[in-house]
Amino acid sequence: MKGQKIPEIYFGGDYNPDQWDEATIRKDMEYFKLCHINFVTLPVFSWAKLEPEEGVYDFFWLDKILEILWENRIYVCLATSTAAQPEWMSKKYPEILPVDRNGMKRSHGMRNFYCVNSEKYRERAAALAGQMAMRYKDYPGLAAWHVANEYSTFCHCGNCEKKFRLWLKKKYGSTEELNRRWNTAFWGRTVYDFDTIMLPTERNDDDRFFPAKQLDYQRFVTDTTEECFLNEAQVLRSITPDIPVFSNISGFIKNLNQFQLTRHMDIVGWDNYPSPKDDPAIPALKHDIMRGLKEGASYMVAEQSPNQQNWQPYNKLKRPGEIRLLAYQGIAHGADSSLYFQMRQSIGGQEKFHGAVISHSGSNDTRIFREFERLGSELHGLGNQILDARTKADVGILFDWDNWWALELCSGPTRDMDYLRQVVHYYRPFYRQNIAVDIVKFSSALDSYQIIVAPLAYMMKDGFAQRLTEFVKNGGTLVGTYMTGLADETDRCRFGAYPGPLREVFGLWIEETDALYPEESNQIIMKTEDGRESSYSCGFLCDRIRLEGAKAMGTYGSDFYAGEPCITVNSFGKGTAYYLGTQPDSAFLHDFICEICRKKEISPVLQVPEGVEAASRENEKGKFYFILNHTTEKKQVTLPEGDWEILVGKLGDERKVILTARDAAVLKKRRK
Ligand code: GLA
Ligand code: ZN
Repeated sequence: MKGQKIPEIYFGGDYNPDQWDEATIRKDMEYFKLCHINFVTLPVFSWAKLEPEEGVYDFFWLDKILEILWENRIYVCLATSTAAQPEWMSKKYPEILPVDRNGMKRSHGMRNFYCVNSEKYRERAAALAGQMAMRYKDYPGLAAWHVANEYSTFCHCGNCEKKFRLWLKKKYGSTEELNRRWNTAFWGRTVYDFDTIMLPTERNDDDRFFPAKQLDYQRFVTDTTEECFLNEAQVLRSITPDIPVFSNISGFIKNLNQFQLTRHMDIVGWDNYPSPKDDPAIPALKHDIMRGLKEGASYMVAEQSPNQQNWQPYNKLKRPGEIRLLAYQGIAHGADSSLYFQMRQSIGGQEKFHGAVISHSGSNDTRIFREFERLGSELHGLGNQILDARTKADVGILFDWDNWWALELCSGPTRDMDYLRQVVHYYRPFYRQNIAVDIVKFSSALDSYQIIVAPLAYMMKDGFAQRLTEFVKNGGTLVGTYMTGLADETDRCRFGAYPGPLREVFGLWIEETDALYPEESNQIIMKTEDGRESSYSCGFLCDRIRLEGAKAMGTYGSDFYAGEPCITVNSFGKGTAYYLGTQPDSAFLHDFICEICRKKEISPVLQVPEGVEAASRENEKGKFYFILNHTTEKKQVTLPEGDWEILVGKLGDERKVILTARDAAVLKKRRK
């Protein structure tokens, strides 16, 4: 990772020692040593303690903590502490407090509760960041700057409204252009003057009144959150130019366009809190998204939970082995850290029951502590070998935030539109086959991939269709789905049939799209060349496809469109474009993906039994393989021939790796 200070995977996480006394901090240091903790993040929420009154700073307590940490050679990700302004500040400058979408001014209390457009907030945040940077610029343990925390506040105050108007004016130039792009002729929304535009206030998914405006508001919030980040980052960079600056991304990634938000961050860092019910493909996909944010660069897992959380509806304990397994899953997908919220449990406050490495018991004689000792010692043993290793993927899945927002702002064709769930559906079969996948921006070059999957590419952004067309023309395999090519960047649909500019590539057009009730399904009837039939289930949406050169591979089994094509293939240039006009079940996707990968000679990272994940990363030191047993049963993997070195786990006779329940192994294949 950029600016990595030590030749090791960063291990540790959020530490809030301003809540306890020095004796406890000294005890923490003993415990940290036992676990090989080498990196902590602090003080994320201590603005009130650092600036007790305007312009009056108190750093003595922090000096002391940092001194103890450095005595113990623990590196620090120094947080600017601007995620929760002091109460006196909210009182003195009420403009800092956000207004919710009901127009209600919120009072002080929550964290992340400031208007990102408040000049006062920005002024005070930059001042604090500057003070911290000046004070700690020569602190030897300073490894990174952590700005704010999980940005995501949406505000509807008068100031945001004014800025939104200016933003629109800059974007569209004239009200005529805005009216055209927003299609305001519908429902009489003509805008005559930018100064009359109000912020959108749709309250829930059932009132999707004005998607084009909502979409621009989402973009505006990303832009202004980015400004807010830069407001602090610029100050930090002017004082400590060599220290990487970032802000941690919430695991709920939808609210802000993370491709954009992270472009000015030196590293990507995210908070991985899978729900106990998530299948492992979900965190795997999110890791791949994080790796995709900076086109393959290794990233930071900034937070995970060391045990149960407090904010899930039902807070399950982390099962034995789960922490270690999730840590290696992150590293397998490209992380160069395994960090946790939190090191020691708070005695009070909202998160007093959130798990920690050191629990309220204060003891190291706990199951969780022992798991951290083991993990820490393994990660320490890995040293710097894996750092900055990259994933090599032949398959890319396209992903885009504007597309996400626009799809889910649509009223129709179904209320069950959930882009992330759809992307997971198309990601999962590759994941299950252990075929490496990159998550790719709509604006990225595609030529390094053999297969591109474009789930629900609803929004045809500038140049996007041309890039996909070129990709197929030059021999690539493209997989598209229903809800492709419907709208442009301002959510105006196209006259002329869908999939719009990709009509020729797919060799078809869509006459109409049926939405199915959740309990309904249809069938995909596939016929092989020798006439054998097989049937799969499908649902969600069913396109009625009109062929224009493409061949039907599968047809619908029932309803008035029974017998019509639902899965098609088209040869275009040197490549092939498949179109899935309905959401196939996982059995279909498994068979389909195996077939297209076979044609392109793309093979799994390793052959492993079901429920076991395999991933790899490569750097100049070698190629590293991660084998992760997500089941509670014992599993065995036989490695292919090669010069293998086992780094974590046990290698038995005849290249056999044995994995117990939720076990993980890391191997290195030496180069010849
Ligand atoms: C988020 C925050 C942390 C903490 C954890 C608890 O990710 O960034 O400060 O509240 O959640 O799970
Ligand atoms: Zn505001």
